[in-house]
Amino acid sequence: MKKIIIAIDGFAATGKSTLAKKISTSLGYVYIDTGAMYRTVTYFGQQQNSGNSIDLEQLVDSLSQIKIYFKNSDHEQQIFLNDENVSLKIRDSKVNNAVSDIASVKEIRDFLVAQQRQMGKGKGIVMDGRDIGTVVFPKAECKFFLTASPEIRARRRHKEQLEVGNLESFEAVIENVKARDYKDSTRLINPLRKAESATEIEVSNLSIEEVYQKMITQINYTIRV
Ligand code: CDP
Repeated sequence: MKKIIIAIDGFAATGKSTLAKKISTSLGYVYIDTGAMYRTVTYFGQQQNSGNSIDLEQLVDSLSQIKIYFKNSDHEQQIFLNDENVSLKIRDSKVNNAVSDIASVKEIRDFLVAQQRQMGKGKGIVMDGRDIGTVVFPKAECKFFLTASPEIRARRRHKEQLEVGNLESFEAVIENVKARDYKDSTRLINPLRKAESATEIEVSNLSIEEVYQKMITQINYTIRV
């Protein structure tokens, strides 16, 4: 069966990662969470300044010192920054609040997009993010664009955060989700937008299983023709 590239883009907390993981498991494909890569660069920038605000010039100058890689253990994917497992650290509110500004910097996007393209060279990959179908893999055989109301997305993200012990209020979560959506959609370089050939799915009233069924039906069709 032919191997393809599956690109999943969309707004914050629409379930992209959960769906991408489920699809990659069922097809035996590699899964790449590009948001985690932008989060990791943000975390690196914060650590450079002992956890304080990021010195952008210093961060851009030291991009070559950043080695990011993924490891799969059981059902979880872990992300490593220079051999440190940063999977949990990159989900905290400090990173949440800074990541969209860092992701708007051209040098940082060029640095990560080059690695993402390299990872997808052999096809058989599911990649989720904001610019996968438009910039990273404009020729991806299957593209999806997920949307949902900010309230529903924030409710989902708030619950996830509580489960990992991050006690942010619902108000803080929805504010962050809306602020990131705005910054991600209005930035000058590779803004979040639906690729022309992407299938848009409004997930507000659908379960993960229902969204998965829609996606896998289209993917299976693409793989077989
Ligand atoms: O999981 P969630 O939807 O909250 O976000 P994420 O996928 O972890 O991405 C975090 C942030 O990274 C986004 O808000 C974007 O600012 C940035 N990002 C990006 O610019 N381009 C990508 N391909 C992926 C993420």
